Amino acid sequence: MSTTSALSKPLNRLQAASQHLGKRSVQNPRIAYSQARPYQFIPTPSKMATSTRQTKAPWRDLLASHMEQSSGYEFTIGTIGFDEDQQPVPRVRTCGCRGFFPELDIHPKSQEEMKQQVKDGGNPPAYESDLLCFTTDIRMEKLHQLESSGHAVEAIFWLKDLMTQWRVKGKAFAIGDPRGEEFKGEKASREAIGSLLRVKESYGSSVEQWTWDRAVTKYFANHSPLARGSFKNPFPGMPRSQEPENPALGMGQRVTELHDPVARGNFRVVTIIPEEVERLDLSNQEDMRRWKWTLGQSGGKEEQSAWTETELWP
Ligand SMILES: Cc1cc2nc3c(=O)[nH]c(=O)nc-3n(C[C@H](O)[C@H](O)[C@H](O)COP(=O)(O)O)c2cc1C
Repeated sequence: MSTTSALSKPLNRLQAASQHLGKRSVQNPRIAYSQARPYQFIPTPSKMATSTRQTKAPWRDLLASHMEQSSGYEFTIGTIGFDEDQQPVPRVRTCGCRGFFPELDIHPKSQEEMKQQVKDGGNPPAYESDLLCFTTDIRMEKLHQLESSGHAVEAIFWLKDLMTQWRVKGKAFAIGDPRGEEFKGEKASREAIGSLLRVKESYGSSVEQWTWDRAVTKYFANHSPLARGSFKNPFPGMPRSQEPENPALGMGQRVTELHDPVARGNFRVVTIIPEEVERLDLSNQEDMRRWKWTLGQSGGKEEQSAWTETELWP
């Protein structure tokens, strides 16, 4: 499957601009050494690689390059909540961006744990996507807000080192429910995400061994034992005066078991399916630049999604 096409041509100028910044892999173990019984569902090529967006998004490599050039890439995640009068209200918070799902270069210690605890040490490096992701605790508010607002999300990075702001608007879906596809929310999320994964050009083997459980476990493993333990903290957002009823919940726990049932019950990977992406370049105050990429769809039997690039006045 081709990952380049005429769609990416308008980007050559931007890609060239990014090349002088140098290029490293987007995954950054510095961020991260920061799941539930295995799921039975094994995706097959027919289930996984039927995307109408099978070509790489034209902005993807530039954003990846920018993230790699930055000292840290937390981003702000905006969702829609509802107040007491059921009026929509904005809700934002900082999250650690984990790069593009499902690719993640994990910390060597985490890789060792994967080798010891996960069949074949994890998934084969079969897939790539344009879907940014972060991890979260299902008990926090953002996932409920996503469910009650048609999954609407906006993510924003301010990469100060590059004087550049990136905004990604789209829909976000969480995976990692221990019930697997018995839970219809998990099934729907996997379908939405799975249809947008591309088999990597460099990958020449079967994708049969790839599982959702291993994908999620890798993100869990990439957290430190203490960070994994945070998924066994008392209920986030409850008054501290209120002791948790569940004795398994408490602060400061260290989790080394990658399928710890309590922690994995709360752990989720959230992926953002982008629909509109915007780059604002403030590096030259005399000539600030702003670009927008919008996802459209051309009709026909061989329906293909296409990104349109427009340069805007800043
Ligand atoms: C630097 C930084 C990184 C954070 N990373 C995450 C993260 O990756 N995932 C997450 O759910 N919360 C993260 N948080 C905490 C969130 O900002 C927020 O407090 C929490 O998710 C609860 O938000 P919610 O109840 O609105 O969902 C981070 C906070 C900071 C300051």
